[in-house]
Amino acid sequence: MPSIPELFESMAWGPAPEAPGKAEAWLDGHGRKFGHFIGGGWVEPSGGEWFETINPANREVLGRLAQGSGPDVEAAVTAARQAFPSWSGLSGHERARHLYAIARRLQRHARLFAVVESLDNGKPIRESRDIDIPLVARHFFHHAGWAQLRQQVLPGYGPVGVVGQIIPWNFPLLMLAWKIAPALAMGNTVVLKPAEFTSLTALLFAETLKAAGLPDGVVNIITGDGRTGAALVEHADVDKIAFTGSTEVGRIIRVATAGSGKKLSLELGGKSPFIVFEDADLDSVVEGVVDAIWFNQGQVCCAGSRILVQEGVAGFLTERLKARMETLRVGDSLDKAVDIGAIVAPVQLERIQHLVKQGEEEGARIWQPSWSCPTEGLFYPPTLFTDVSPAATVAQVEIFGPVVVLMTFRTPAEAVELANNTPYGLAASLWTENINTALDLAPAVKAGTVWINCTNVFDAASGFGGYRESGFGREGGLEGLWEYVKQDDAGRAKAMEDQGARGRGDERGGGKGRKRVVPAATPGSAGGIDRTVKLYIGGKQVRPDGNYTRTVLNAAGEPVGEVADGNRKDIRNAVEAARKAADGWWKATAHLRAQILYFLAENLSIRSAELAARIAALTGASSDQAEREVSAAVSRCFDYAAWADKWEGDVHLTPYRNVTIAMKEPIGVMGIVCPQEPPLLGFLSTILPPVAVGNPVVAIPSERWPLLATDCYQLFETSDVPPGVINLVTGNRDQLAAVLAAHDDVDGIWYWGGREGGAEVERLSAGNMKRTWVDLGKVRDWYAPGDDTAFLREATQVKNIWIPYGA
Ligand code: NAI
Repeated sequence: MPSIPELFESMAWGPAPEAPGKAEAWLDGHGRKFGHFIGGGWVEPSGGEWFETINPANREVLGRLAQGSGPDVEAAVTAARQAFPSWSGLSGHERARHLYAIARRLQRHARLFAVVESLDNGKPIRESRDIDIPLVARHFFHHAGWAQLRQQVLPGYGPVGVVGQIIPWNFPLLMLAWKIAPALAMGNTVVLKPAEFTSLTALLFAETLKAAGLPDGVVNIITGDGRTGAALVEHADVDKIAFTGSTEVGRIIRVATAGSGKKLSLELGGKSPFIVFEDADLDSVVEGVVDAIWFNQGQVCCAGSRILVQEGVAGFLTERLKARMETLRVGDSLDKAVDIGAIVAPVQLERIQHLVKQGEEEGARIWQPSWSCPTEGLFYPPTLFTDVSPAATVAQVEIFGPVVVLMTFRTPAEAVELANNTPYGLAASLWTENINTALDLAPAVKAGTVWINCTNVFDAASGFGGYRESGFGREGGLEGLWEYVKQDDAGRAKAMEDQGARGRGDERGGGKGRKRVVPAATPGSAGGIDRTVKLYIGGKQVRPDGNYTRTVLNAAGEPVGEVADGNRKDIRNAVEAARKAADGWWKATAHLRAQILYFLAENLSIRSAELAARIAALTGASSDQAEREVSAAVSRCFDYAAWADKWEGDVHLTPYRNVTIAMKEPIGVMGIVCPQEPPLLGFLSTILPPVAVGNPVVAIPSERWPLLATDCYQLFETSDVPPGVINLVTGNRDQLAAVLAAHDDVDGIWYWGGREGGAEVERLSAGNMKRTWVDLGKVRDWYAPGDDTAFLREATQVKNIWIPYGA
């Protein structure tokens, strides 16, 4: 035993629980070579290809991993498919017990997981030990509860099936938990592909599953790079893809899955603002910045990588930050005293160096601490850029390293403008002692998570996910469960072949038994062309840009009217009008929106007879059928009027001293491609839910029977619907839908009308990562009552606002 003076001399490490011995022994136990985990056993890669994984803190090789290829993916998906009937057939309680068992084993082996994670990823042991691994266990505990409660909480919903999950390298085990825990809880089986740089804890987790008694095939883990991920995405027997990673790959996956019917959730990049007001507690702010951008070396999708500081305190804060940066320590991930560990891989270090160089070349001023980083590993010092223009590369691009930019603002409005000045929308952090300022700004910032006077806090009870190009879907909380379920009741939306109906307008849903008879003449319609209807944009009836019209035929093939033939320019004008209306419509109180929809419902009901006659005259429906459609449309209108001020959020029970408010916010400008039939009910059923919860819409009504929608112009006007909230462009459905889907100022699009058209909408929506909802040839019974909430859910996105308290 060395004496204390000798220890001071040698500075040798003493024994510590974070020593790598046990992790090394685990690696040695596997001969430092790992196959895929498929069907409960280890399987060699079919292509015989292996790759190395290194410890980025010293570049030493930790082991060799299997490179997955098509046959490996096939084997894993087959194993998951075989396991699905029995796993999904277990009771919620039985599944819950499995998840509890996994959670407990994770806790028992927490230290080993933490050490392996830090060795493989380079992150400080303090973080893997105190943040990542406890949160992993928490996710399994929390979702064990959801497994138990699924039938009570989500009646009528069941698992999606086999889920393919692809995760990044920044929080390897935590991202695994975010994906696997809800998937298993809801009864799905899983094929997961960890990132190629950091697969070890996923493989250690596979052993944990085996030891915890999870049935074989319920979780399968295949390793490999992007090629393996792509093969999983493209596999025809996968029912859902859940991906976390770069926006670039997210976009590829959106396009690859378009039209496949696979459910998709994407958690992508960010460039999150960290907004500091003059009245903030600046001591806390400095520590907040440390957590925001130097946590996990800044390799965090929601890293606060843009400090926006109010001008009056900018100089002071900059100096305080520099002083704090001088005291940060960079070094070996297993050293408990380091603040910043190693960058995950050489390619990532090069990317950071390249972007920093670009920042300097573009004129920003760089500042780094006076000390130098250790040289034996992949280290990069904390870096601050000032004098940055909002358009600079370093202010716009996700650097994914310990690099932060600092910009200033004067007013809260300017802060919001700067905050929203990127295509992303993952998270934001607001620092002010004034709760009014904080709560005023929180809804204005486009982000799925807003932290007030805190940052980078996560919990299983709170959903996490993006707005805009940061992706869609939530992970965690009640809102995250929806990603892993689908409606049991096939009767609501029967899977039917798309009978080549696209563009021809002959889908037949609802209103059965419509006869193609020549209708009796009704005022203003039958008996020849007697009216030409314009478009409805910004609250006005306007001529179409192209000055063309389309003839509308009745069921007997006789011309009964003309509507405007809208084009690309008309869609653009309608989107512009909707954008102008967006802010005011959302900020209008929910009470006001409800009143307007009640008024609309009343006015619609007054015109029932006239509208029923119109339906009968156009479509050949019997008067009974036509009346039934109008009556269903009126009651739907009352339904959404009722919902308008009741589609509320939640307060999540996160285990810290804070209130976590899950607010349901509108998606933004929404394009609605309405079903062909039933013409009035289909139109109102699809435009009213988004409108009720605060979205302005650009609707393309039934191509075949547009006159029922255009008949509503006066209704909208007399019911005080503000100009621009509802816009209508008639014309060729699929041509107009393509323009809407590709438009960068449209935030969401719904498409009701066939497989090919829906696939095209999904493909084109990848440009700005719109939220899409398409029927892909499934015919919905628009008369069926009771699934209003599915429409409201698709018309909103959840923002979680974290507000810590403490006197
Ligand atoms: P990436 O998006 O390429 O990798 C994430 C995961 O996707 C990995 O498992 C990878 O193997 C897989 N993958 C890659 N190409 C794929 C494809 N075509 N189909 C299916 N799966 C595929 O991210 P990468 O290259 O590791 O990092 C590049 C940049 O992406 C980083 O510098 C950072 O800016 C950003 N990034 C963002 C993350 C986030 O959570 N927002 C996470 C990781 C990276």
